[in-house]
Amino acid sequence: MSLFKIISRSPTLCQPKLRVASIGICLPKLTRPISSRGTQFTLNNGQKIPAIGFGTFQDPELQEDAVCSALKIGLRLIDTARVYDVEEQVGKGIRKSGVPREEIFLGTKLWCNSYHPDDVENALDESLVSLGTPYVDLLLMHYPCTFARGPEPFPRDSSGKMILGKTTYVDTWKAMEKLLKTGKTKAIGVSNFSKGELETLMRECSVAPAVHQMEVHPYLQQKSFNQWLRSQGIHVIQFSPLGNMNDFYRNTGWSKDVSHTKRIIDQPILQEIGRKYGKSTVQVALAWGVNSGRSVIPKSTIDWQIKENVEADFELDPEDMTKIETLDIKARFNDPSFDYQWRLYSDLEGIEGTVEGRTH
Ligand SMILES: NC(=O)c1ccc[n+]([C@@H]2O[C@H](COP(=O)([O-])OP(=O)(O)OC[C@H]3O[C@@H](n4cnc5c(N)ncnc54)[C@H](OP(=O)(O)O)[C@@H]3O)[C@@H](O)[C@H]2O)c1
Repeated sequence: MSLFKIISRSPTLCQPKLRVASIGICLPKLTRPISSRGTQFTLNNGQKIPAIGFGTFQDPELQEDAVCSALKIGLRLIDTARVYDVEEQVGKGIRKSGVPREEIFLGTKLWCNSYHPDDVENALDESLVSLGTPYVDLLLMHYPCTFARGPEPFPRDSSGKMILGKTTYVDTWKAMEKLLKTGKTKAIGVSNFSKGELETLMRECSVAPAVHQMEVHPYLQQKSFNQWLRSQGIHVIQFSPLGNMNDFYRNTGWSKDVSHTKRIIDQPILQEIGRKYGKSTVQVALAWGVNSGRSVIPKSTIDWQIKENVEADFELDPEDMTKIETLDIKARFNDPSFDYQWRLYSDLEGIEGTVEGRTH
């Protein structure tokens, strides 16, 4: 069922004003219906994926109500990960919302300490138990690098340096391919891969990734990589679709200088385009992703922001898409290469300026 159909049937859609956590419930107040095209895309396995979704990184104590609100407001794509340590809250939020599981596209990610082929299915089982669901719609390999096997998500030596594992992402992917037959995940994909790493994967394995989840926003458009992914039938989910709106990027040592560029919300060209459509700057940034054929997964724990994000699915005129193209300053905010002891994104744009930093 499309998001539009779900929305148009629901009597509970509204214009919320309250921060979720401040009221301790997840049902927003009713004022007017949500306006959204309800765009969906089709993955290379035939599965449908909504254009606008919901990110769950950070604020663990707020995520149960935030997920519940997001679903009640009309979102049907939820992105989480084992390493975010919020899967339990996400599962509770889904059940609290009352939205049937089969109407939700739920994705999680395998973390780097579970990449040994013998660990992959167990790791997914643990995610399923935490989420309280018999299957996910998408399982992603979170990064191409492998950390040492074991319970420690960030295994470090006495000097604080990450201890890497021996498994290659090709071996991990082959183990993920087997999961498709178990019904525990409907699709598999990757995140944070370079073009070369994806080419290796597709050369050596039998199932092509359905999705690549990667950093894309008006400041890091990755135009040629996006075109290549499209030519390969790999759907892109944009993470951090609002660029440097997340304070995390200002506080981490990963990319300190570039993270202090003007926040997306203060960008004058996006503001001007927003005025033309009666939309916010954030909505224009998200609509740019959707009009480019990608899904976006903004994170928010605030009801009015979540609703604003749902309403970011509207058509932008070609001239406005062209104006947004001029904002591509190739600013990559998420680059833990030094900390993870792995040159990530090696053949992609925006890798200059990464500084050594540790966040976990
Ligand atoms: N695969 C990966 O390696 C990877 C990496 C990073 C992120 N992700 C996924 O992508 C999701 C989103 O990325 P992100 O959290 O880094 O960044 P983001 O969604 O681009 O930005 C989040 C920030 O924007 C604010 N915000 C959201 N909607 C807003 C609105 N309508 N108006 C004003 N401000 C708004 C949020 O505020 P509040 O917090 O105050 O609500 C938060 O500070 C994550 O939650 C996660 O699921 C994946």
